[in-house]
Amino acid sequence: MILKLVHCLVALTGLIFAKPYQQQQAVLAPSQDVPLRDIHIGDINFIHTTDTHGWLGSHLSQNDYDADWGDFVAFVDILREKILQQSRDVIVIDTGDKRDGNGLSDATWPAGLRSSEIFNMMDYDLLTLGNHELYTAESAILEYRGTSQSSKFKDKYVCSNVEFIEDDGTRVPFGNKYITFETPIMKQRVLALSFLFSFQRANNRAIVTPPLEEITQKSWFQNMVETNREEEIDLIIVFGHLPATDPTEREMHKIHALIRKYYPNTVIQYFGGHTHIRDFVQLDSKSTCLQSGRFAETVGFLSINMTDPVDAESPIFSRRYIDFNKEAFKYHLSKLGHDSDVPVSTKKGKTISRLVNDLRHELNLNEKLGYIPQTYYVSTRPLNSEENLYHLVTHKILPNLIPPKNYEPSMSRFILINTGSVRYDLYKGPFTKDTEYIVLPFNNDWRFITVPLVVASRVETYLNKGPVIASLGIPSSSHHKQHFGGFQKCPFINNPNLSEGYTTEDDLGCHGDDTPHNSQREYDIPNVVQCKEVKKVQEEEADPSKMVHVIFYSFMELDILNAVNSIINDLGLRMENLTTNDCSHYGGDSTKKLLRDYFSQF
Ligand SMILES: *[C@@H]1O[C@H](CO)[C@@H](O)[C@H](O)[C@H]1NC(C)=O
Ligand SMILES: *[C@@H]1O[C@H](CO)[C@@H](O)[C@H](O)[C@H]1NC(C)=O
Ligand SMILES: *[C@@H]1O[C@H](CO)[C@@H](O)[C@H](O)[C@H]1NC(C)=O
Ligand SMILES: [Zn+2]
Ligand SMILES: [Zn+2]
Repeated sequence: MILKLVHCLVALTGLIFAKPYQQQQAVLAPSQDVPLRDIHIGDINFIHTTDTHGWLGSHLSQNDYDADWGDFVAFVDILREKILQQSRDVIVIDTGDKRDGNGLSDATWPAGLRSSEIFNMMDYDLLTLGNHELYTAESAILEYRGTSQSSKFKDKYVCSNVEFIEDDGTRVPFGNKYITFETPIMKQRVLALSFLFSFQRANNRAIVTPPLEEITQKSWFQNMVETNREEEIDLIIVFGHLPATDPTEREMHKIHALIRKYYPNTVIQYFGGHTHIRDFVQLDSKSTCLQSGRFAETVGFLSINMTDPVDAESPIFSRRYIDFNKEAFKYHLSKLGHDSDVPVSTKKGKTISRLVNDLRHELNLNEKLGYIPQTYYVSTRPLNSEENLYHLVTHKILPNLIPPKNYEPSMSRFILINTGSVRYDLYKGPFTKDTEYIVLPFNNDWRFITVPLVVASRVETYLNKGPVIASLGIPSSSHHKQHFGGFQKCPFINNPNLSEGYTTEDDLGCHGDDTPHNSQREYDIPNVVQCKEVKKVQEEEADPSKMVHVIFYSFMELDILNAVNSIINDLGLRMENLTTNDCSHYGGDSTKKLLRDYFSQF
């Protein structure tokens, strides 16, 4: 009898009962019809980017983020000029993670080799590193020598808790431990510090000391406090690569508690990053933290009026998350007197846009490999939706993995991938080389084990109960604030005139985004997803002792073995624990290649 191989049962059902294809409406409302929310200029004004991850070339398939780095530099330069005309100060800040996420940074070795030069053309007043500057020795060296020690930034680069290791083994601070300066217009005396979260996986050319340990155990901090007394400082800026909201570690809150001891009345402004969300947290009446999203989707704007005219003691904070597009840039400048018929551009901005495009061509990122007929989402559609990217991968992509020649093609199999290996939504439009860098950049080797069906069918559930499977240090894909045990307080927006996008809820309410959008619901995404191909007869007979293949990425091997052995143990099966020796090479194309092949047919 010929056993029928059911390729991913659900997919097959979906084919048989195929519904007329429903196109997701992603039409962008003409932005002149959607009133934007203004920025409010204060005494000190901040422009903040974080977690740009190489996205200097705009989002070619997303109109809401259509500005490139040249447009952004032009915006900041004109904004700075307008604010200076009002005799107010501007400070431009970045909080790290500048590579791993886009072909512009990742198609070179080391990642960021060429994109850093373009990134650094922005006249940042304060900058630092993120964990993605530290995964490899090469990227640490590039960041230290090319940015931290560059003549442009060596007085502006701050890194309070990271050290660089020179070729001869000497440990040196990765940047200034802290800096002090006076703002040019308002003459505010500023003390600036910067912390990277307690990152454990730095390469051998960098040492990260946990922030709290750094400031409680190293003498520079005490010296700093003694030479910069509270009465000599008007404003403390703590910017760094750590999240504003972090219910487990609370590192920023702990740093704040300690700094407050020495500066009980000083205004302290934090800027954060790493979790890729828009966020604003009020720490106390004189201290807040702004976090400005990810991937050049957001320009964070924050202003402080150092004293409230009514209550002279307390400052007033205002924040705005600006969508990274040309219309929004034009809108905000027009409110400050920039002619709204004149495009937001400068000579320098145009040069940068040209450099970005040249680099794109040089790295072949525009090379068209296929077409994406509809948008697939990582986490803003439920896992069982036809619009979910993992649904696509488990139902249409992984079934195309060809078994090795010497194995029965009719062998039942479970193919597991960790969800962290996919890092961005897949937008309708051309499928290019850059799409691969953005969505699924890594090649993978497939490994497999042979276990009874009863064990194999429990692996996915087992892994999804456990801790997150450390992937290759790639950015998390979630970009919405998790409502940790709390309630969503902001209304869910669903207005046909608006496009889907950020509708941020933060400590100042529901109106921080400059552009009103329809809300997106964020669904929980498990650790792993699987493609399950069980022979129909076998499943009907439910023969749990039948041997099947479990196939997985090589780097998941230890997680898989642990899961399998625990299941064997829990079921009390009379079989020995499996070891690495029981895992074999499966062969076949990587998920990346399978995805490319799938879209090359359109
Ligand atoms: C700061 O004060 C100016 C002048 O009074 C006012 O126009 C502006 O809205 C204030 N900004 C904030 C953030 O309160
Ligand atoms: C959508 O826009 C149209 C035209 O401007 C307007 O009449 C309508 O009230 C808007 N709908 C909503 C829900 O805001
Ligand atoms: C088999 O592996 C499980 C899970 O790792 C472990 O709890 C158990 O002690 C192991 N059994 C033996 C005999 O090593
Ligand atoms: Zn990041
Ligand atoms: Zn990070």
